[in-house]
Amino acid sequence: MANIFESKGENHILKDERFLYPEFVPEQLPFRDKEIGEMVFALKPATLGKKPTTLFLTGVPGTGKTVSSKHVLNELGEYSDRTKCLYINCFEFNSKHSILSKATNFLGYAVPTRGLSTEEIFERFVAVTKSKENIPIFIFDEAEQLLKQEDTKDLLYDLSRMGERHKVFIGLVFISNDNFFLSLLDDRVRSSMQASTINFEKYSSLQLKDILKERAKYAFFDNALEDEVIPLAAAHASKEGDARVAIDVLLKAARLAENENSKKVKVAHVRKAFMKEKVVKQELSSNLSKQEQLILDFVKNNEVTAGEIYLALGKDFAERTLRKAINDLEDKKLISAKKVKKGKGVTRVISKVKKS
Ligand SMILES: Nc1ncnc2c1ncn2[C@@H]1O[C@H](COP(=O)(O)OP(=O)(O)OP(=O)(O)O)[C@@H](O)[C@H]1O
Ligand SMILES: [Mg+2]
Repeated sequence: MANIFESKGENHILKDERFLYPEFVPEQLPFRDKEIGEMVFALKPATLGKKPTTLFLTGVPGTGKTVSSKHVLNELGEYSDRTKCLYINCFEFNSKHSILSKATNFLGYAVPTRGLSTEEIFERFVAVTKSKENIPIFIFDEAEQLLKQEDTKDLLYDLSRMGERHKVFIGLVFISNDNFFLSLLDDRVRSSMQASTINFEKYSSLQLKDILKERAKYAFFDNALEDEVIPLAAAHASKEGDARVAIDVLLKAARLAENENSKKVKVAHVRKAFMKEKVVKQELSSNLSKQEQLILDFVKNNEVTAGEIYLALGKDFAERTLRKAINDLEDKKLISAKKVKKGKGVTRVISKVKKS
């Protein structure tokens, strides 16, 4: 008997689905010329040995903030040796210590994995920045995470004062979809940063259509999509203006079509892909999201690590989604998440908050 994983037939649909993955950085980013141009304008001085402008990139989810900044980072790396540009996701690197270690390593000073205090690493960081000709640029994505702890707030303060205190230029780009991010920033930090803000607007249905067409060119075989597939996926995502939703629906529909051994992706497949999303969305509209509820059920009265939650629920939800749900539960004061050392890194130990 055939193995249950074996495909039923030949695939005529997806040529290379990686072009639809969220982490893929396309060469063309339609409708983001203006935003990318503004980023170039702010960062270009660094390529001439001058002080770049600090940037805040804001806008609702799926509007291309991350992908545009990665695109700029790639281009900058190709264009100039006078800058070194590092992307940091603040969910992943969420302590002053871990961020400074990464940054210092990146600049060419190998930080030993243990033994140095945060202050010592900061000294190395300043020293290595001073000793190099090139101007480092740091992109902090999901930057609202930096406001959650005192030590990372401290880091923001220190970074904002690098020019004044240590006479070095660094480039800073902060990305956040949290509207409150800017207002929550300490006044002292904000004023010494003298930042420019670039707001990424929601995409319209028409724009999403063009974005999907562009991505589809590389992901699909010719004529693999029924005419109405892209307009429907675009219309579906246009309420939130979220390109991630649009691309994800297209990939889900394509996989459903392949699974049915269909020659083309049809409107019916797109509708089926919506249904899969809807189940999750409906529960999102109640007080707790589905993920949040599942996490609470999983934690019960125990202490569990974030890693255990990812393992248990990871087959149904992306780790990013789960991380966000854990943070939201913490904000709602339903769980507490203590950071503890584990091996070389830090893990969060999660338990329910006892109601008195
Ligand atoms: N103009 C565009 N052209 C092609 N793909 C795009 C464009 N804008 C966004 N995308 C794609 O949409 C998805 C979401 O974009 P991105 O991750 O940059 O959103 P974001 O603004 O950072 O969202 P969040 O606030 O949730 O982090 C990614 O797969 C990205 O490649
Ligand atoms: Mg992003």
